[in-house]
Amino acid sequence: MRLLIINGPNLNNIGTREPNIYGNIRFSEYLDQLKNSFSDVELTYSNSHYESELVAHLHLAEEYDGVILNAGAYSHTSVVIRDAIAAISTPVVLVHISNVYARETFRSKSIVAPVCKGIITGFGLDSYKIAILSFLANYGKYKDVT
Ligand code: DQA
Repeated sequence: MRLLIINGPNLNNIGTREPNIYGNIRFSEYLDQLKNSFSDVELTYSNSHYESELVAHLHLAEEYDGVILNAGAYSHTSVVIRDAIAAISTPVVLVHISNVYARETFRSKSIVAPVCKGIITGFGLDSYKIAILSFLANYGKYKDVT
């Protein structure tokens, strides 16, 4: 299985950014752990602060079995990213490290979530692990039902 992890803005500095919310493990360190734990899954990682680059990454996602997307703040604001997800057939699971529903009210609104397969929010970095497990549990089925 080939999965593409796409992180949006301000997620490059996880580990030092607001550690009380996002924890103190760097994403690169966590990604290595994921690669070790899921050696049968090919994990590709990309990160951008720019909406247009995130769209370009999503357009390249057709060749993957699934996308794990943390669009950061764009989740709450971006019609552009929503449209890019709607335009591809590859299923996208939206993840958030923090529980966006337990924070400021503007984070409770998601422009992007309705076009995603599902949302995982609030499990720390393990939101990404749970997303991988959801793809493994449904391998081959998502594309039929979306
Ligand atoms: C986040 C939640 C967003 O509201 C925030 O803007 C982020 C990170 C999360 O992973 O918890 O940048 O997507």
